[in-house]
Amino acid sequence: MGSLIDRVGIVTGSGRGIGKAIAEAMLHEGAKVVISDMNEELVKQTADELKQKGGQVLGLVCNVTVTESIEKMVETVVNSWGRIDILVNNAGITRDALFMRMTEEQWQAVIDTNLSSAFKVTKPVVKVMSKQREGRIINIASTSGVHGNFGQANYAAAKAGLVGFTKTIALEYASRNITCNAVAPGFIDTAMTQALSQDVVTKILDKVPLGRMGTPDDIAKAVLFFAGPGAYVTGQVLEVNGGLYT
Ligand SMILES: NC(=O)c1ccc[n+]([C@@H]2O[C@H](COP(=O)([O-])OP(=O)(O)OC[C@H]3O[C@@H](n4cnc5c(N)ncnc54)[C@H](O)[C@@H]3O)[C@@H](O)[C@H]2O)c1
Repeated sequence: MGSLIDRVGIVTGSGRGIGKAIAEAMLHEGAKVVISDMNEELVKQTADELKQKGGQVLGLVCNVTVTESIEKMVETVVNSWGRIDILVNNAGITRDALFMRMTEEQWQAVIDTNLSSAFKVTKPVVKVMSKQREGRIINIASTSGVHGNFGQANYAAAKAGLVGFTKTIALEYASRNITCNAVAPGFIDTAMTQALSQDVVTKILDKVPLGRMGTPDDIAKAVLFFAGPGAYVTGQVLEVNGGLYT
C-alpha cells in the first residue's frame, strides 16, 4: 500500500523536470495528482504519459504568476476531487547575470515566478486545507537561496524569500494541522541546468562531495517524506545537494 492513498496533490511546474518526478512519485504512492504547468503542450504530454502508467491524473494549464489562472485551477481541482491535501510550489525559472549586468526585468521575472507565485498559489489552497484541518505544503527552494551563488542575485533572493515564507506559513497554520516545509535542491540534472556550459558544470561538480549531479528522483524522495501522513516536522529546509554547501 502506498503512503498517499486517496490524497490529492497539486505540483506546479510539473510538465517536466523535478516537478514531473515529484508528481510521478506521488502517483506511485497512490495519490491523485494535478499536473499543472504554464506550457500547454507539456501538460498534455506529461498528463497523458502518467495516465498511461495507471495514475489518477488531472492536467491543468496554470501560470503561477497570474491570480485568475491559479483560482481557476484550484476551483477545478476542488470540483473534480473535493479536496487538496498536498501542494508542491515547484514552478521556477532562472535569469542569471552578474549583479551589475542584471536588468530590472531579469530581477522581477525571477521574483514573480519563484517567490510571489508561492504567495498567490498558497492562498486559495490553504483555505481548502484549513477547512479540512489537514494539509502538506512543500516549497522547492534552492541551495542558492541558503548560501548565495554567483550570477544569481535574483534567484538567491527569491529562494531565500521562499524559506522565510515557509517558516511563517508553518507557524500560522500549525494549529490547523497543516505543515509547511522546503526542499532546497543543489545541482540537479534537468533542462534548467542542461543550459549551462560543460566548463561551468565541471567547476560545480568539483564542489559536490558525492561527485555527481542530483536527479529529479532524488528531490522527489525528499518531497515524499514531507508529504507523508506521519511527518512530525514543520518549518524545515532540507538541502538535497550531495554535500554542495558553498
Ligand atoms: N535543476 C536544478 O539544479 C535546481 C536546483 C535548485 C532548485 N531548483 C528548482 O526546482 C524547481 C524545478 O526546476 P527544474 O530544474 O525542474 O526546471 P525546469 O525548467 O526543467 O522545469 C520548470 C517547469 O516550470 C514551468 N514554469 C515556468 N514558469 C512557470 C509559470 N509562470 N507558471 C507555471 N509553470 C511555470 C516550466 O514550463 C517547466 O515545465 C524550480 O523551482 C527550480 O528553481 C532546480
